[in-house]
Amino acid sequence: MEDLTTDAKKGVVLSGMRPTGDLHIGHFEAVLRNWTRLQETHGCFYFVADWHAITTDTNTKQIKEHSIDMVKDWLAFGVDPKKSTVFVQSLVPAHAELSLALERIVNIGTLRRLPTFKGYLEHIAGDRSRYDKDKNKLSGEARLDAFANAEVSVGFLTYPVLQAADILLYDATDVPVGEDQLPHIELTREIARKFNSTYGEAFTIPEAMLDADIVMIRGRDGRKMSKSYGNHISPDHTEEEIYERVKSFVTDRKKLSDEGDPYECPVFDLHRAFNRDGEVEVARACRNATSKCYDCKTGELPDLIADSYSDYRTRKAEISDGFVLDVLREGNIKAREVTSEKMDQVRKFMLMDYLK
Ligand code: TRP
Ligand code: SF4
Repeated sequence: MEDLTTDAKKGVVLSGMRPTGDLHIGHFEAVLRNWTRLQETHGCFYFVADWHAITTDTNTKQIKEHSIDMVKDWLAFGVDPKKSTVFVQSLVPAHAELSLALERIVNIGTLRRLPTFKGYLEHIAGDRSRYDKDKNKLSGEARLDAFANAEVSVGFLTYPVLQAADILLYDATDVPVGEDQLPHIELTREIARKFNSTYGEAFTIPEAMLDADIVMIRGRDGRKMSKSYGNHISPDHTEEEIYERVKSFVTDRKKLSDEGDPYECPVFDLHRAFNRDGEVEVARACRNATSKCYDCKTGELPDLIADSYSDYRTRKAEISDGFVLDVLREGNIKAREVTSEKMDQVRKFMLMDYLK
């Protein structure tokens, strides 16, 4: 059999998604469309980032269901297990093992300074009034420190180190990620360089792959699309549900005579993603106030969205849980092969392979 994973011409792509049970059209358009395209040109590894999923929410009751559902979505949307290796992170032990090794060459301060870490602290600590009631009235950095010390797990701090291990184990050359993940890829590059110069050239230095074509789709209320905000559209919604949801989107114009700015309007995100042929005209009519928002939302847009997922829906109904599990079993065998070779190399460079 032709081995697309290792003989790929243009390099090795690796990416993971957390099985949190909240996939919506934003993920499909920003991530999965790219994943399926890359299979044609690169050797691809796509995995269920389950260790990552349970860093902020430690409940594992639904981890199996969410993982199977998510991979079913990938396969139904066109991720092809004959072309790509699809696997589960926690069942490839090298991820945890390399992460542990890399933790030794990363400073605590580096991790604490990452914008993803600080952003999370600010986001969560902001809601916790008990850090304000403190007798000493903590503020600013001290308040965040108190919160981090009491409520943030070691696993959350080292999340990006595990991500570096994910990437470096496969000699990935390209990592398709959203902008928010760029600091993690930069850190991965730093870690790889540090390991290579300390112990020997074990790792390929990866590049982040940002696709300029990708449209970030905002939700109904203009905020980031998220199932937890209830402002999302799902590819599993029926045509009527899609119609109703699009109709409820907030727009950038109050009155018909107002000139709008399509880039301030989440409805225009949908046009950009699903109405490529019409988007220029939609933008013009919006700016010149020659269209109604109502028509912009209820015209052909809902159908275009529903149509673009019709193959996905048909295929999804045909994929059984058992098939998903078989795909993952096979992918995991392949991932274990690749990573155990890499770990042998790591041990050799670290002079820790002396029982061999
Ligand atoms: N951190 C990524 C996210 O939140 C998921 C992820 C884990 C990942 N490991 C990765 C993405 C490795 C790319 C490569 O979306
Ligand atoms: Fe948004 Fe369309 Fe209204 Fe412009 S015309 S504000 S793009 S809904």
